[in-house]
Amino acid sequence: MHRISSSYHARETLPDGRIVHIRAIRPDDREKLQEEFHKLSAASVRERFFNVKQDLTPKELTYFTEVDFSMHVALVAELECESRLHPVGVGRFVRNQENPDHSEFAITVSDKMHGQGIGKLLLRQLIHCARELGVQHLDASVLPQNARMTNLLHHTGLPLESKIEDGILTYTLAI
Ligand SMILES: CC(C)(COP(=O)(O)OP(=O)(O)OC[C@H]1O[C@@H](n2cnc3c(N)ncnc32)[C@H](O)[C@@H]1OP(=O)(O)O)[C@@H](O)C(=O)NCCC(=O)NCCS
Repeated sequence: MHRISSSYHARETLPDGRIVHIRAIRPDDREKLQEEFHKLSAASVRERFFNVKQDLTPKELTYFTEVDFSMHVALVAELECESRLHPVGVGRFVRNQENPDHSEFAITVSDKMHGQGIGKLLLRQLIHCARELGVQHLDASVLPQNARMTNLLHHTGLPLESKIEDGILTYTLAI
């Protein structure tokens, strides 16, 4: 089956000139993922998971970091600063088993880095990887008040549909 390389890497530039590296997630990102999760605001956790939780469970950490890059692709964003890399975001998509043309995707950016273009870069890279795998639609579940995510999706310029169910918006991006 077609896969994204587990050494996938892209060097990107933010609008203010800072460099961000977007790379494939690794099993050894487990601890960093938990650390970054602990730094998220309650609002961001709720926007990502639709409930407030204190930790990612060991099972979730395994699921989030040990991916096959075929049915589940996950990328991390690291900001370059004084020759060191600092984790600032993570994005993933998981293909629908019954309908692999569709994938559910999600992005989380560290609160202190919101609104600086990291989400946009992660989405661009996720779209690139999804196209490589032949995915045609990316679906995102979003709380209606999540203006940043809504804007991010609208500003791709790609065809976007939405439906609301049980108070949650599902956006479908035709990539
Ligand atoms: C939603 C999220 C991923 C967006 O990432 P981000 O790095 O903050 O977004 P960006 O800086 O790339 O900005 C994306 C768009 O949002 C818009 N935006 C920026 N700041 C904004 C603000 N304060 N309010 C509303 N929109 C804003 C911008 O218009 C930008 O689009 P443009 O540059 O094309 O004009 C991020 O805020 C996040 O992690 N939120 C918590 C978790 C979450 O909500 N995940 C989404 C559910 S899957």
